[in-house]
Amino acid sequence: MNQPSKFQTLVLPDGEKHKQGVSAVFNAVASGYDDPALRFFPLCADCMVSQLRPSRGWKVLDVATGTGALAGALAQAIQPDGRVMAIDLSEGMLARAEINIKKMALENVDFFQMDAEQPEFESDYFNAVTCSFGLFFIPDMLKALKQWRRMTRSGGAVLFSSFTENAFDPLVHIFIEDLEKFGLDVTDKLVASARLKDADVCKDLMVAAGYSAVEQNVVQVGYHLREAEEWWAAIWNTAMRGLVEQLPQDVQAEFKRTHLERVASLKTDDGLWMNVEVRLTSGVVD
Ligand SMILES: C[S@@+](CC[C@H](N)C(=O)[O-])C[C@H]1O[C@@H](n2cnc3c(N)ncnc32)[C@H](O)[C@@H]1O
Repeated sequence: MNQPSKFQTLVLPDGEKHKQGVSAVFNAVASGYDDPALRFFPLCADCMVSQLRPSRGWKVLDVATGTGALAGALAQAIQPDGRVMAIDLSEGMLARAEINIKKMALENVDFFQMDAEQPEFESDYFNAVTCSFGLFFIPDMLKALKQWRRMTRSGGAVLFSSFTENAFDPLVHIFIEDLEKFGLDVTDKLVASARLKDADVCKDLMVAAGYSAVEQNVVQVGYHLREAEEWWAAIWNTAMRGLVEQLPQDVQAEFKRTHLERVASLKTDDGLWMNVEVRLTSGVVD
């Protein structure tokens, strides 16, 4: 009998249904995703470009591109003859990304609505594949990483970001506690990012997918929010909104009020610290 793979537990059941849910959540949050409260996304994109050090002329695939923060930073670094292919499941996010790239007057980014688990690009094509805060949404992460390796040329790199276990501490724990107080059972609805909070899991996945020279680096891209209301903007414009929407509609306003009252009590003279500790994991294709 086949032994269960070490990563079987990291494969979400009912993957297609999960993807539909993820896509629906991101279509809903797309219009608010570039809110200033969420500026850690572009801040992290800059850190990823610094780590990757792409050269002019590269071809890069940005997986789960969202509203294109990393795609834009990469396109800027490799222009004019380099090209970014940027894929995402959510048409809402892709529509915002196209607007953002136009605003930057960049002409070297192509967007495709495509599943990161089964990308349809040819093999040995890209100099690099990047994925910022997207891998943990993918039902079969190992399968996806193997696909990204297939499309990367020998000597090329894959780089992804994920949140460490300290990220959003204590705000996210208070959020989960308050949801539970309002009767939501969050045990089987873990915030997706928890799947990749451990450094070893990130590294072991890369090794199992066949990458060599796996490296990890932790960066802090957090900042002080001025008001508790900005923390709500962070919840409401990301996948965390999906948890709030599982509460009955008539208690959501009361949830917001009591949760923000608790969060506001953490404010100091500097504001409300939002810890965004991020792990960057990279590997090379032999
Ligand atoms: C948290 S956002 C990150 C967006 C962007 N990379 C950034 O750093 O700002 C996650 C993105 O992953 C996309 N996504 C989730 N599962 C996906 C899949 N299977 N294939 C492609 N995109 C996916 C979502 O639609 C969403 O846009």
